[in-house]
Amino acid sequence: MKGRTYLYGLSALLAAAYLAGCASGGKPGGSGSADRTETGAAAGQQETESGAAAGQQETDESSAAETVPYLWDVHTTEELMSVDYLLYRVNCAGAQADGVLGLYQTAADQPFGEDGGTGKQWGYRDADYMVAVEDDTGEDLTRYRWEIREDAEYDTEQTGFYYDFEVPDGVYEVTLGFYNPFNARKVTAEAEGELVMDAQKILKYKLTENTFYTSVRDGSLQLKVFNPDRGKDAMQNPVLSYILVRAVPEYTQELLQELLERTDAANADPGRYTAGTYDPFLEQYRAAEALAQKPDAAEEEYRQQYLTLQEAFDGLEEIKVYQSFLPGKAWTDDAGNLIQAHGGQVQQLAVTDPETGKQETKWWWVGEDKTNGSSRSGICAYSSDDLYNWHFEGVVMRNVESRDQLDTDPYFTELYQDYTKEQKDRVFLCLDAGSAIIERPKLLYNEKTGMYVLWFHADGPTETSDSSYAAACAGVAVSETPYGPFRFIDRYRLNTCPPDQEGRYPQSKGMARDMNVFVDTDGTAYIIYSSEENLTLYISKLNDEYTYLAVPPEEAVYGRDYIRLFPGAQREAPALFLRDGGYYLMTSGCTGWAPNQARYYRADSVLGEWTDCGDPCVGDDRHTTFDSQSTCIFSMDGNYYYMGDRWNSEDLKNSRYIWLPISFDEAGNMSISYTDEWTLP
Ligand code: DGJ
Repeated sequence: MKGRTYLYGLSALLAAAYLAGCASGGKPGGSGSADRTETGAAAGQQETESGAAAGQQETDESSAAETVPYLWDVHTTEELMSVDYLLYRVNCAGAQADGVLGLYQTAADQPFGEDGGTGKQWGYRDADYMVAVEDDTGEDLTRYRWEIREDAEYDTEQTGFYYDFEVPDGVYEVTLGFYNPFNARKVTAEAEGELVMDAQKILKYKLTENTFYTSVRDGSLQLKVFNPDRGKDAMQNPVLSYILVRAVPEYTQELLQELLERTDAANADPGRYTAGTYDPFLEQYRAAEALAQKPDAAEEEYRQQYLTLQEAFDGLEEIKVYQSFLPGKAWTDDAGNLIQAHGGQVQQLAVTDPETGKQETKWWWVGEDKTNGSSRSGICAYSSDDLYNWHFEGVVMRNVESRDQLDTDPYFTELYQDYTKEQKDRVFLCLDAGSAIIERPKLLYNEKTGMYVLWFHADGPTETSDSSYAAACAGVAVSETPYGPFRFIDRYRLNTCPPDQEGRYPQSKGMARDMNVFVDTDGTAYIIYSSEENLTLYISKLNDEYTYLAVPPEEAVYGRDYIRLFPGAQREAPALFLRDGGYYLMTSGCTGWAPNQARYYRADSVLGEWTDCGDPCVGDDRHTTFDSQSTCIFSMDGNYYYMGDRWNSEDLKNSRYIWLPISFDEAGNMSISYTDEWTLP
């Protein structure tokens, strides 16, 4: 029973604390025990701190009530301000990677007991179902977390993570951080016995934070994190990564002024931050400046403005300059935006900058823009001089919002000026932002025509089916420059199984899904793609312009114009490359957005005999290609590099890139090992 603890909205809490302070004739909450009585805490129902942590039990009603001082009687504003009001910053189950600790702690985390440095009683209630996990996909506070043993007998009411923190009485802002590498699940939390987070979804590979306010009236702040809906499904176990406990300031004109001074440095250096975070900051800074001129605004007004400015300041993101590859970490372009080039391809191109007319050699990355999820994906291009830092060159092939847009938006009217109405209807069907699926774009430069040709997996509904992957086609678009805009030509079904072979899904001929392209030393280009409902890979020769098959399917000769590979083996995500006269084909299995085990194959020619060489990943204990799916292998100075996608199916735009160096032994066998960070030789 925690009936004498309180959880209100912050304004109510502050109002209650303020009223209590007036009643006791001093600052808000000037007399701890008096306040407790006045705001409803029953006298004589104190909890002891040790009892609380040892099971959050209550002591006998007759035990003497201790007087717990009020926060603002214990600390000055300056003192709390100097630690940013932070009393505890608990890196659950781990180490304080960045060294920041709250005022009351000297360890990153500890079982409940006295802090060795500050003497405060705090920590977690140890339980044998708790497992401490270090996770190298996270960083700082998300690197460590508590999990629950998979075979734990989960008790809906009891099993969870319990923490107690010794604090003076007062109002606290508490933040719980959850970095969840598992499938989405729900987490519930109680503070001081009251529900503060009700079955909140924590998504895969996403940091979820929840901040709330709680009023402490007994010198101890108690937290519980659990999942009452877990049932018998261990996949629903809660996790917990960190806890922040902050004192809540008294909001005044002076405090707002102080915040303006503290945040002014950012104001002075706008170029350091991403526009997406700097613009809202500036707006709040200006609003705070105006309010700070008013001496007699309501505390609530100062509070609102203080918190909004602080939040905008905390949200400022510096534009990063990369000097290494950081597989799996968020990767931003030189404007600070997450790179949107999923299922992509990197190559070196000689380009002419359309604005400056300057000719340069650039690394060129094309890929899917997943900003708006699975469909609505245009194709983005990025350029780079060093492969670490990328500049956004725009959406080089846009999808279409409405049929009307094709006839009215100058971007499209110019691009499709020569198209008939029927052709435009077709463009809309294939690029409809509401339904078309555009995946795995790959760019070819055609020396003969001087045109850039973009191939991609073009899927979506058809005239006869609403299913989102009904079309199963390869799409093609062309442009005079790699900067686009690329003009969509059409999407096609490709070659079919010859009559003397046993094809899969004969009723759905020529399917093409995950795809890639490859140009051989003689300039012949090939398209490599999953066909037969993803059961069989095909390699088909392209025509001299690279814009269609070398020979239409009905005339194609097996072995000359195309081949089928590994019938029934279910491989996709192909990436073909040439090294030392030998051809290599990297592939994944077919498990939707979930990663699976890679396999690669070798041959002496593109349309030759391919040999299965197994999984090239070394130390990939989970057999998930290091939690990624191949999309391209490119080379630089004789070295080869693997590009993969770590898909986040719940939030595709937040999928990460896994780039890793590839090694070859003397016999040409390839291997890929994982590393957190690496640089080019
Ligand atoms: C796996 C493919 O490789 C991706 O490109 C995408 O099509 C997903 N399947 C969709 O589930």
